[in-house]
Amino acid sequence: MNGSMYQPVPLSFERLEEEEMNARGRALLDRLARRRSVRDFAPDPVPRELIEIAVAAANTAPSGANRQPWHFVAVSDPDITAEIRTAAEAEEREFYEGGRAAEAWLEALAPLGTGWQKPFLETAPWLVAVFKQIFARAEDGTKGTNYYVNESVGIACGLFIAAVNEMGLATLTHTPQPMRFLSQILGRPDNERPFILFPVGYPHPDCQVPDITKKDLSAVSSWFEK
Ligand SMILES: Cc1cc2nc3c(=O)[nH]c(=O)nc-3n(C[C@H](O)[C@H](O)[C@H](O)COP(=O)(O)O)c2cc1C
Repeated sequence: MNGSMYQPVPLSFERLEEEEMNARGRALLDRLARRRSVRDFAPDPVPRELIEIAVAAANTAPSGANRQPWHFVAVSDPDITAEIRTAAEAEEREFYEGGRAAEAWLEALAPLGTGWQKPFLETAPWLVAVFKQIFARAEDGTKGTNYYVNESVGIACGLFIAAVNEMGLATLTHTPQPMRFLSQILGRPDNERPFILFPVGYPHPDCQVPDITKKDLSAVSSWFEK
């Protein structure tokens, strides 16, 4: 390691009482467990500041070599959201009805009741498109390497979802395939690829969601204790 480049500062960290740790953890878990993917939004506006908070939360994420290989594009302009919906529906129609999706994939999606129509892309007051930076591009145009891009951007998106949920808003992890149209509509550079498209807003008062459950802790974890 190049010692001269490593100039650490003391960690800022508050050690909590065990009771408080437990209470905080349980409170967060309780709210996370209530999160659902929402596909039916109310048109009510959401202040830009709340979206900024969610993006700022995402931007705290750990990332390979601290490269932060992500870019968030927040859109409330109705001309642009209409354009995104039209393009997304064209791709999704191919997926659901044009033979692009394998039969097994469509079967896996059947309990979710999803289809090619995506009215929420215009109803939700915000669309937040997340791009991953497959390589870095400095202002002078030189290329740099990013590390663990998918893991890093995935973690950032998880924090974004958690923040949205924590603030009392809802979102959907939407991945219309392929998503290249987002790069074009939003004018993103050649080092970026669309990763996830998040509509964000309040759920419609009549919103319904698939009746699904989560696996038990015992099914998703193994323990080797001392
Ligand atoms: C990477 C990823 C991609 C997804 N893509 C879509 C999508 O394109 N359309 C959709 O309606 N739901 C999509 N989902 C949402 C899942 O269907 C949803 O998370 C899952 O059914 C569990 O429901 P819950 O989020 O309410 O717990 C996606 C989720 C993830 C994590």
